[in-house]
Amino acid sequence: MGDNGSVWLPDAMSTLAGEVDALFWFVFWTSTIIFAMVIVAKLYFVFRYKRTDDKYVPSPVHESQALEAAWIVLPTILTLIVFTWGFDLFVKMSTPPPDSYEITVRGKQWAWEFEYAEGALSFSEMYVPVGRPVKLIMSSTDVLHSFFIPEFRIKHDVLPNRYTSVWFEATQAGRYQIYCTEYCGTEHSGMLAEVVVVSEEDFASWILEQSQDLPPAELGEQLFAQCAACHAIDGSVKIGPPLNGLYGTQRALADGSTVTADEDYLKESILNPAAKIAAGYQPIMPAGYSGMSAKQIDGLVAYIKSLE
Ligand code: CUA
Repeated sequence: MGDNGSVWLPDAMSTLAGEVDALFWFVFWTSTIIFAMVIVAKLYFVFRYKRTDDKYVPSPVHESQALEAAWIVLPTILTLIVFTWGFDLFVKMSTPPPDSYEITVRGKQWAWEFEYAEGALSFSEMYVPVGRPVKLIMSSTDVLHSFFIPEFRIKHDVLPNRYTSVWFEATQAGRYQIYCTEYCGTEHSGMLAEVVVVSEEDFASWILEQSQDLPPAELGEQLFAQCAACHAIDGSVKIGPPLNGLYGTQRALADGSTVTADEDYLKESILNPAAKIAAGYQPIMPAGYSGMSAKQIDGLVAYIKSLE
């Protein structure tokens, strides 16, 4: 919880977050007030009109047309306020400004991939400039995911066969958590990334840095962010085997045989994960990483080789 968050809501860090919160608080407080009024009236009537004498017969009560009109008209007005307010906000949230900066977002088991207009790629971090509308064009390479940044009040499904999009404009530099909020398999809860909001100048220099050619192992280190939900590099066991100190060793396989963990084995395990299953692990690695370019695969192999 930061400067403008509360017990109920995280910090509001996009241009539309305040409006989303205002509507939330309007619904919250009108509901609370009406709830309190109903309970108070109920308690009052329970005690005021308690039956004290078995033989007492009340005189018939006739309806009050003013009261009945009021409880038809007032809730209708409240509902229409919430509807028009919500619809207006929905239209704003679904209509990216025409000068938006576009980022292509791909969800896959279990990582987020970000591709920028200039061709740069990033994995565990999505860089965006502060004070500029950013439109995300999202798709999935496998199953349903959902893209969620609480501080920006945006959440949208990411689907395999269709593009979906959301937009936001960040109001302050900082780092904010990105979640996957649709159960998508074993490592769903590890499918995390961060949005890094920086100044226009820092963004421009970051993009420039990305478009320079990296040495293979450094490219591999960047790409490895996709693998980190399942593979540790400090020897600890996640749902996949740790990858440090692997290169050049004899690897015991689930079928009882062994294989030398050389470049060919590493490459095969990325492109066709089911081919050789490490002993003690389930064959659950998604095949979706085979879409990487030859250069990217070489980079990953070089990085894994370098891990001690
Ligand atoms: Cu991707 Cu849950």
